[in-house]
Amino acid sequence: MKITIIGTGYVGLVTGACLAEIGNDVFCLDVDPRKIEILNSGGVPIHEPGLQEIIARTRAHGRITFSTDVKASVEHGDVQFIAVGTPPDEDGSADLQYVLEAARNIGRYSNGFKVVVDKSTVPVGTAERVRAVIAEELDARGLDGSAGHRFSIVSNPEFLKEGAAVDDFMRPDRIVIGIDDDEAGLIAREKMKRLYGPFNRNHERTLYMDVRSAEFTKYAANAMLATRISFMNEMSNLADRVGADIEQVRRGIGSDPRIGYHFLYAGVGYGGSCFPKDVQALVRTAGENGHQLRILEAVEAVNYDQKEVLVDKIATRLGEDLTGRTFAVWGLAFKPNTDDMREAPSRRLIASLLARGAHVRAYDPVAIGEARRVFALDLAGTPDALARLSFVAKQDETLVGADALVIVTEWKEFKSPDFAHLKSVLKAPLIFDGRNLYEPQAMAELGIDYYAIGRPH
Ligand code: UGA
Repeated sequence: MKITIIGTGYVGLVTGACLAEIGNDVFCLDVDPRKIEILNSGGVPIHEPGLQEIIARTRAHGRITFSTDVKASVEHGDVQFIAVGTPPDEDGSADLQYVLEAARNIGRYSNGFKVVVDKSTVPVGTAERVRAVIAEELDARGLDGSAGHRFSIVSNPEFLKEGAAVDDFMRPDRIVIGIDDDEAGLIAREKMKRLYGPFNRNHERTLYMDVRSAEFTKYAANAMLATRISFMNEMSNLADRVGADIEQVRRGIGSDPRIGYHFLYAGVGYGGSCFPKDVQALVRTAGENGHQLRILEAVEAVNYDQKEVLVDKIATRLGEDLTGRTFAVWGLAFKPNTDDMREAPSRRLIASLLARGAHVRAYDPVAIGEARRVFALDLAGTPDALARLSFVAKQDETLVGADALVIVTEWKEFKSPDFAHLKSVLKAPLIFDGRNLYEPQAMAELGIDYYAIGRPH
């Protein structure tokens, strides 16, 4: 099938590459010529396991094209995926300007029936706005946009996780497709069915529903997951106070199939481009509709505070003033297998350590480049703090002479370090672990002073 993907961010690039991989003819559009240049010279602007290989393969077979040519992109695809960013506005609501601009271009250059798929995470009701914009443009061209035989809008939210995006796309738990209950909707349904057929070989995973419910499903899923994390973080803070072990509690409750084991890990708070933004946007949507989402407001507040919990532990142990102290920080990305620094807990944590006068030596397997860029911006107003932050290329180099090791992201390579060596190079055997990677008992036996989240000290 002929597919156009508008936006080569995480979702767009993965969607485009995976659809090309299964045999479609994919045209990827981006307004940023830099990104297109990188892609056309064989690079991939994001770090995502498996993606580079798929893009190289499909490019070699001529099944994927990258371009900034808007008109050509609209003319290419019978199915047009809108996968552009929806960054939060100042008030937390999703900024739809890029989505609506994409819609406008589709209306402006449309040359036949188009299935327009909202892949970006967009608030309930966005499909109607997209429809109105396309209709307006068609009308302006003297084509009857209201007739519904020139295009149909589909909501097809994406549930991929960064770091596992290719796998999530290729082996989805479910494919949510929101479709209009009219003639054009039927055509769109057939096209979507054909497009996603290869992902449904073993059993049907597609859930057809109305457009608003599909839009809502995406937010409700992320809101539920964020709620589980904030809930566990709150429990871990209480566990700290009553002397319980959140890891044992996690296993104890996860064994109940109604609860399940996934997404129950206490830590330094959730980050990334989705949970913080989507929780805020849903709270906002509720407000606009005269309703207050009290649980989600609490989820957000708890998450905000959780990003300080590890620094509080450090300050309790070493004193509020950390002048002259040096901290080795392992992990900068908001989670493993990505270089994404958006809302990463490391940003607040490192800024807090620096604000208390400390030096920070940080390491991450892939995010150092991105971290340099982000911290230069975050700390632009406090150059003396920025000067006390350094990045090193080797995990071990962070440790030499440091007062403590602080773990912020649970990369695999942090899970089993050489503790004897670690002890010998740190100034004192002191670890603050924001991801509960080690067993407190084993640490005690090794003579390491170990602070984790919601675990006995
Ligand atoms: C999340 C969802 O998991 C995806 O299903 C969704 O498609 C995506 O958002 C999106 O809306 O695009 P992602 O943000 O890539 O995916 O990352 P997650 O693996 O969900 O992790 C989010 C944050 O929660 C990370 O900071 C992680 O460290 C934290 N987390 C996760 C915990 O603190 N505890 C857990 O038990 C799980």
